Amino acid sequence: TTGGSDAAKRDAGESAADLVTDGTVVGLGTGSTAAHAIRALGRAVDSGLDIRGVPTSFASRELAREAGIPLVDLDEVDGVDIAIDGADQVAGGDLIKGGGAAHAREKIVDAAADRFVVVADPSKEVETLDHLVPVEVLPAARTTVASAVESAGGDPVLRDAEHKDGPVVTDNGNLVLDCDFGAIEAAAALARTLSETPGVVEHGLFVGLADEVHVGTGEGVTVHEL
Ligand code: A5P
Repeated sequence: TTGGSDAAKRDAGESAADLVTDGTVVGLGTGSTAAHAIRALGRAVDSGLDIRGVPTSFASRELAREAGIPLVDLDEVDGVDIAIDGADQVAGGDLIKGGGAAHAREKIVDAAADRFVVVADPSKEVETLDHLVPVEVLPAARTTVASAVESAGGDPVLRDAEHKDGPVVTDNGNLVLDCDFGAIEAAAALARTLSETPGVVEHGLFVGLADEVHVGTGEGVTVHEL
């Protein structure tokens, strides 16, 4: 939903969809860039490609259903062959995700995949991660997690819903704290600190999980192998 052009996002999404082969289980990411991959996979299924998709959110499930991709839950398959997912920011192989509050299920599926392909446009690429880090929290832990985030040098803000009085509630029934840590020099250490905090369901730092990044430009794609 941020930054780059739709043409750039389409290039990235379609390039990643091209990697998908017959008979595989495919993790279906969330967001406007992954949506291009889902639509491309739907067209390929129309032409005979045999895949099963594992959605990462309510939104990606709906989109995949419309696109005609057969769907399965993670606990119905032996594993995920490839996952295709967007990101809010990309620094080498490290990502910040969760702009759509879907990062908990995204991380489960992306981490389970043999091959995790990130799709992005050039506006997402940075030297050092400095985007807000979304932290999904159990509602009962909102204030204690907020204190822990402050102790770790962050500034947490409860994410508000746009068309509702009150906070964003995730697909899992939890709340999201958007945490400003400024420039994140030690992403792995911060990821560990957040994961160790009681009440944190999942945070949006994806450290070292990606296998490749496809950056669309509107005139093609640059692939970074990691
Ligand atoms: C969803 O929670 C996010 O992790 C998305 O993957 C991320 O926000 C990328 O979305 P866009 O492709 O729309 O920028």
